[in-house]
Amino acid sequence: EKGGYEHFMLKEIYEQPHAILDTYRGRLNTEHGIIKMAGVEDNLQKFLNANRIIIVACGTSWHAGLVAEYLFEDFTRIPVEVEYASEFRYRNPIITKNDVVIAISQSGETADTLAAIKLAKEQGAFVFGVCNVVGSSIARETHAGAYTHAGPEIGVASTKAFTTQITVLTLIALRIANAKGSLSKSEYFNILTELETIPAKVEKVLRTDPHVKAIASLFKDATNFLYLGRGYNFPVALEGALKLKEISYIHAEGYPAAEMKHGPIALIDEQMPVAFIATKKGHYDKVISNMQEIKSRKGKIIAIVTEGDTTTKDIADFTIEIPETSEALAPLITTIPLQLLSYHIAVMRGCNVDQPRNLAKSVTVE
Ligand code: F6R
Repeated sequence: EKGGYEHFMLKEIYEQPHAILDTYRGRLNTEHGIIKMAGVEDNLQKFLNANRIIIVACGTSWHAGLVAEYLFEDFTRIPVEVEYASEFRYRNPIITKNDVVIAISQSGETADTLAAIKLAKEQGAFVFGVCNVVGSSIARETHAGAYTHAGPEIGVASTKAFTTQITVLTLIALRIANAKGSLSKSEYFNILTELETIPAKVEKVLRTDPHVKAIASLFKDATNFLYLGRGYNFPVALEGALKLKEISYIHAEGYPAAEMKHGPIALIDEQMPVAFIATKKGHYDKVISNMQEIKSRKGKIIAIVTEGDTTTKDIADFTIEIPETSEALAPLITTIPLQLLSYHIAVMRGCNVDQPRNLAKSVTVE
């Protein structure tokens, strides 16, 4: 059942090239520039007339929501807010019938997300679901939706659900942008074309696995970890930290790299590993100067970089090279080495990676 892999989590990490392909296949016709998702097509006017998009989710799905905030605002120019479902539902939020609410959930059963949906519906908003589990409560409770076609995710730590959520949200943002004309034709076609290269690029990142494992062995006894990124890679930093916390029980924090100097930099010494996401496109120079700040305080740097990057080699203690892609699609690629890093660290620490302590796959209680 684990297809020859030692754990479901590893199997699911390795399934990502296919899972991403399955998610856009049949929906995307790059040659003709067509994106077709029934749930979006049937409700296109609602998206086009939206004053605002509110995204509600928990955990890793909330991180996918943060990536979607960048995607939607970038491509469609519709203002986006991303909310923890648990906070949203209890804070008397302002919701109008001109709001579109997007609920993201792998299981489709998360109690807080479900409650947020019910609240949004009561206030007259149009609610769209992005779920993995077909026929789940959230899929049924929403007005319309689009499934991620990730296949069953058994490992408690979410991996392929995250990258396929981002894939679906990218398609939705692009469809709306095309209808609105908020993205130039060439940008639109460039991103569609680039999206089709992602499965092969993820496959290539997976080949860094032995190298990532070697790095993991050097950091398995760390007691803290910091993850830093900017722009589209900021949510990836949060996700990298969550993955490490939940399966290895190492304390980890994700931060926007520039926020570091407002407090967390005080933590940096030779005992503190810092994982940077420092791809060429996306505030590269600024991330490099953040990296220098860590280096001068003797933090240990692991950097996810674009292949061929030589600058980072002199600054970082370890680099993991990944293929180049457009800035907006970077999270689909930069996430992969961080999943592998936390997986290997957890295994080396003897943790039960598929069933971490205190965690459940579906959180059906608040
Ligand atoms: C992290 C993880 C959790 C879930 C969260 C939401 O790896 O698995 O943080 O992402 O409980 O679950 P869903 O997406 O099922 O609503």
